Amino acid sequence: MAGDNARGLKKGLTSYGDSAFSLFLRKAFIKGMGYSDDALDRPIVGIVDTFSAYNACHANVPDLVEAVKRGVMLAGALPVPFPTISIHESFAFPTSMFMRNLMAIDTEEMIRAQPMDAVVMIGGCDKTVPAQLMGAASANIPAIQLVTGPMMTGSHRGERVGACTDCRRFWGRYRAGEIDDQEIAEVNNQLVPGAGTCGVMGTASTMALVTEALGMMAPGGATPPAVSADRRRSAEESGKLAVALAANGLTPDKIMTVKAFENALTVLLATGGSTNGIVHLAAIAGRMGLELDLDAFDAMGRKVPVLVDLKPSGQNYMEDLHRAGGLPTILRELKDHLHLDCMTVTGRTLGENLEAMPGGWTQTIVSPIAKPLFPEGGMAVLRGNLAPGGAIVKQSAASPKLMSHRGRAIVFSSIADLGARVDDPDLDVTEDDILVLQNAGPKGAPGMPEAGYMPIPKKIAAKGVKDMVRISDARMSGTASGTIVLHVTPESAEGGPLALVRTGDFITLDVPNRTLTLEVSDEELAARRADFTPPVHEGSDRGYKRLYMETVTQADHGCDFTFLMPPKTGSVPEAK
Ligand code: FES
Repeated sequence: MAGDNARGLKKGLTSYGDSAFSLFLRKAFIKGMGYSDDALDRPIVGIVDTFSAYNACHANVPDLVEAVKRGVMLAGALPVPFPTISIHESFAFPTSMFMRNLMAIDTEEMIRAQPMDAVVMIGGCDKTVPAQLMGAASANIPAIQLVTGPMMTGSHRGERVGACTDCRRFWGRYRAGEIDDQEIAEVNNQLVPGAGTCGVMGTASTMALVTEALGMMAPGGATPPAVSADRRRSAEESGKLAVALAANGLTPDKIMTVKAFENALTVLLATGGSTNGIVHLAAIAGRMGLELDLDAFDAMGRKVPVLVDLKPSGQNYMEDLHRAGGLPTILRELKDHLHLDCMTVTGRTLGENLEAMPGGWTQTIVSPIAKPLFPEGGMAVLRGNLAPGGAIVKQSAASPKLMSHRGRAIVFSSIADLGARVDDPDLDVTEDDILVLQNAGPKGAPGMPEAGYMPIPKKIAAKGVKDMVRISDARMSGTASGTIVLHVTPESAEGGPLALVRTGDFITLDVPNRTLTLEVSDEELAARRADFTPPVHEGSDRGYKRLYMETVTQADHGCDFTFLMPPKTGSVPEAK
């Protein structure tokens, strides 16, 4: 029987009690596809193919598979593409987050089940890269992440547009009556002009950049546009690197260390990255036995400024960041905040990779660290009696005048309630109020939808108001902006204090002092808690939904399933 050290086709043989026969049978079947013994004797590099006709963000995957195969064969190994599920943000009901852990399980088990010495994982759309890294972390065979790359920008009546900050901006203008039915239909044709992931600093771009910083991606691999030659070259290089990884046995646990996660968190802050990034990094770190320390992350955020001028915190798009040199340009500015000695998939350290990249040039997308776009990191962690387990606000994309704000709560008990009442002309609401959404967390919705970006009530939007304080246990798309408090933990469906807020209560948000306070006495909250009943979701008694509802963790633990996480052995960032 082939042992743990078996290579290539001999790995993980089906058990019939006769390993020679198992190999004989395996070879007989794969030879049905025309392989020679020479090919089958080579090391094998699996390629995770996540093409789906539902997923425009992955429309270029077939091209990338070909380029990865080329790289693998140039390096003398055998490439074997295989499918896993693919998740697109707009085509996953109830939410893509609900499906992420299923994709992580699929990825982990197929990597483990099939014979491969290394794997190239092709992901891109928001949940796919975290799912693949979670799976690779648990399977712990040599792995390298390739992303599909950002889409190019489109043009609407001469104005550059791109998914999906502009999707929200134009929809907001349409709701406010500033543009008509014809124009909103026109812009709908231009927002996603082709293959690739959202072209702003949304979750996909954020995860691509933090994965490169983590050391799990070919250097310079985060930013080449989906349709560019650079993207295909990065795919070819990923194939070559995977063959080297198969030979040197550099497994994810040797790359995704505490220091590497600190590098990733630093890049998350410096890019003004998506708030989803913190949930996903918590989940990936969790697979390595590391717990996210939100307070240490907040302390890190006070030192690392935002440098990257991309929407929604800034003005530009991913294609501009690529022209500005991509992640290496950012890393050069951040050198003093990074652990440059971290090992990466190249077999060299992050610092050595950086030295090997072309030097910087004059550009306007990444600010010098001495003149940052925003003096602190993109995110802040709030605590208080409304969020004992923490909450997140993306301060770099919030309105400065609302960062310290006291207002009356207008409570919506669910997403359905929000949809039914938010535009009611009789809704008693002013622009100084605080919109509160309950039951939109990991279990509440379920699937923690990106509903935290609640619409401004139509009658308020019609007055030209673009932002209000909004608080929920939901997530928010990385492409959205506003003074939006997210991931309130524990969530309302678990009986967290968010469930106890009533319309008319007063809430104080104080971002500079990192507090979120519900101005209701402990006695009154206790009385309200006695009346609390958790929501019940249809279909939760069977299948994947039951598994999800019974085992999903809160946002601060990455919304992973309890039984997929090993015991904790440390925390990230390490408290200084
Ligand atoms: Fe796929 Fe935005 S919808 S990256």
